[in-house]
Amino acid sequence: MDTYKIYGGNTICGDIDIQGSKNAVLPLMAAALINRGTTILHNCPNISDVKNMAGILECFGCEIQYGNGDMVIDASGVSSGAVPAQMIKRVRASVLVMGAMIARTGCIELDYPGGCMIGARPVDYHIGALRQLGVDITENDGKICCRCDKMKGADIKLLFPSVGATENAVLAACGAEGITTIYNAAREPEVEELCEMLMDMGASIFGAGTSQITIIGKKEYHDVEHTVLSDRIAAGTYICAGIITGGRVCCLMNKPDILAGMTNLFKDMGCTVRYGNDYYEVKGGGRIRAIKYIETKPFPGFPTDMQSQFVSVLSKARGTSVIVENIFEARFQIAGELQKLGADISIDGNRAVIHGVEKLLGAKVRARELRGGAALIIAGLGAEGETVVEDKGYIRRGYVDVIDVLKKLGGNICCE
Ligand code: UD1
Repeated sequence: MDTYKIYGGNTICGDIDIQGSKNAVLPLMAAALINRGTTILHNCPNISDVKNMAGILECFGCEIQYGNGDMVIDASGVSSGAVPAQMIKRVRASVLVMGAMIARTGCIELDYPGGCMIGARPVDYHIGALRQLGVDITENDGKICCRCDKMKGADIKLLFPSVGATENAVLAACGAEGITTIYNAAREPEVEELCEMLMDMGASIFGAGTSQITIIGKKEYHDVEHTVLSDRIAAGTYICAGIITGGRVCCLMNKPDILAGMTNLFKDMGCTVRYGNDYYEVKGGGRIRAIKYIETKPFPGFPTDMQSQFVSVLSKARGTSVIVENIFEARFQIAGELQKLGADISIDGNRAVIHGVEKLLGAKVRARELRGGAALIIAGLGAEGETVVEDKGYIRRGYVDVIDVLKKLGGNICCE
C-alpha cells in the first residue's frame, strides 16, 4: 500500500518534462511482437504497467532490456508461450498481445484482461474484429483461445470507436492476407502513433488518425526505433494541479497540440493558455470559474481519463459545473472521497453536479483507480491541511515519479 501525504496550500508552479505516454507505449510494446527482430522505444515511461507488459512479452520469448527510458525488445525468439493469469489481469492493455500474436504465430490463449475497475470493460469488439479476419475464437474457463492458419483481410465495422479494439484489429490485420478496412475506428493520438510505428516497421496503413483505417497485410516486418509520444493525460493532470492551487504549469512535451481539445475548458475556468511547438502552459490564479457542461467523448472530444481530475478542480470553482461521463459507467467513484474533503458533488447516473465550495479540508481518502487516485492528489494539493491518499499501487501504474515531479513544482507531498 502506498500512502501519499499531502499538505495542501502550496502553489504548484514551474516547467516539467512530460513523461512518455502510458496509453501509447503499451500498444507499441505489443506491436514489437510482430517483427522477428528488434524494436527500440525511447521516452518509455518507468511505470508499473510498462514493467508488467514487459513481463508478458518475456513469457512469449522476447528478450527485453530497459533503462533510462530506453527499451530494447528483441522478439526474434517469440513462440506461443503461456502467460500466467495474474500477469494478464494486472494490465488492461495486455489484451493487445492477442492481435499481435495472431499476426505473428497464428495462435494465442489468453485470460481476460484486468486494469482499472472503471466499468465492465468487455472485449467483445476485439473478439468480433478478429473473428472477421477469420480467427477462430473460443471462450472457455475465463480464457480466450484464438487460432488461425491464414487470416484474410476484411471490412470491420466497430459499433463504438474503441481504442483497444481498433489497436487489436490494426495489429492483427498486419498479419492478414489482403486488405482490411476498419470503419468507425478510434482517432486517439495513441492509435495514430501505433499506425505510424507499424508503418516505420514496413506496414502499409492508410488513414491513421481518421475513423477509417486501411491496412494491407504483410509477411515480414523490419526493425524499428521510435520515440514515444508525450503523455497528454499526465500533462493534463499536472496542469490541473497547477490550476487548483492558483499556479502555473508549463508542460515540455512533443506534439502539445494533442491537448488542444482541453484549451477552451481551461480558458472557460479563467486560466491563460499558451502553447508552441514543444510546450503547453496553463496559468491559473484566483478562484476559477465553474464550467456549465462537459461531457466525455472519444477523441477529439474531452477524454474520460481527464474527467476525475476536472471533478477535483471544479469542486473548488465559483458556481456549479455539470460533467457527463459517456465512456465508462463506474468513473465517478471519486465523488464519495472528495465529499470527505468537503466537496459538494451529487451523482445521478452518468451525470455529476458539482457545486463549487470555497475551500476543501484535508482528510483521509482512498484511491480506487489510476486517474481517480491522481485526482485525489490534486484535491489534496488544493485543500487546507493534511490529506492522506491510500493507494494500492494504482497511481504508480501510470505516473512516473509523481512525488518528485510535484515536489519540483512546489508541492508539499511525500509517499510512505
Ligand atoms: C483505452 C485507454 C483508457 C481510456 C479509454 C477511452 C489504453 C491502455 N487505455 O482503454 O485509458 O480511458 O481507451 O479513451 O489505451 N467496449 C466494449 N467492448 C469492447 C471494447 C470496449 O463494450 O470490446 C466499451 C468499453 O466498455 C467502454 C468503451 O467501449 O465503455 C470505450 O472503451 P475503449 O475505447 O475500448 O477503452 P480501452 O481501450 O479499454
